[in-house]
Amino acid sequence: MKKLLILIVGVGLAGCVAFVLFAGSGFSAREEPSAIEALVARIAKRVAMPRSASSAVNPVAPTPQILAEARAHFADHCAMCHANNGSGETEIGRNLYPKAPDMRDVDTQSLTDGELFYIITNGVRLTGMPAWGSGDGQDSHGSWGLVHFIRHLPAITDGELAYMRTLNPVSPPAAVEAGLEKPLLEGAPPARHGDHRH
Ligand code: HEC
Repeated sequence: MKKLLILIVGVGLAGCVAFVLFAGSGFSAREEPSAIEALVARIAKRVAMPRSASSAVNPVAPTPQILAEARAHFADHCAMCHANNGSGETEIGRNLYPKAPDMRDVDTQSLTDGELFYIITNGVRLTGMPAWGSGDGQDSHGSWGLVHFIRHLPAITDGELAYMRTLNPVSPPAAVEAGLEKPLLEGAPPARHGDHRH
């Protein structure tokens, strides 16, 4: 009986908190999370992170080759949301809820290497951040190299960004438009710029 009462009060309290957080703002992903929501999410992530994960030391040396691989990998897999420079200023990144953060800022840069690795390999539930790699704690996806690359973002050069643009994924119609590929079906009309609307 006592347990049931505690459960009912608990659910009621959670409902009140949810009401305060979400009431009035609907469910549009365009909104910016409120300061309190962002703070709660950041604390929840810190608390949920296993201690052994956050204190993990990057076992990979930041050699020029590792950085080059990570840069290419980031351009191909991450930049669609995070942008080549890590600002999060992409069509997807700024329209997610929560938004893709500016990873050059202190909030991201103050995470430990282990925390960055944990987030990359596990993703962040209830956000657009997917989990990458095999999920067994192994670095099957070059994620420790990505951690080095994220550290390098505040100092990224225009030359690197120009190179990354050549590696960003291009949709088939955009590739045809840019003259990189032939239309798949013989006789299919080439994509016109006006065909793609947002
Ligand atoms: C589909 C969009 C999307 C893709 C693709 C994506 N991310 Fe994310 N990422 C997000 C969002 C949204 C967040 C913010 C999650 C949050 O608020 O906790 C995030 C958060 C992160 C964070 C934590 C930053 C912080 O300050 O908490 C890291 C690190 C990260 N992403 C790295 C990567 C890497 C590396 C890749 C590519 C291998 C990648 N992401 C691909 C959407 C994406």
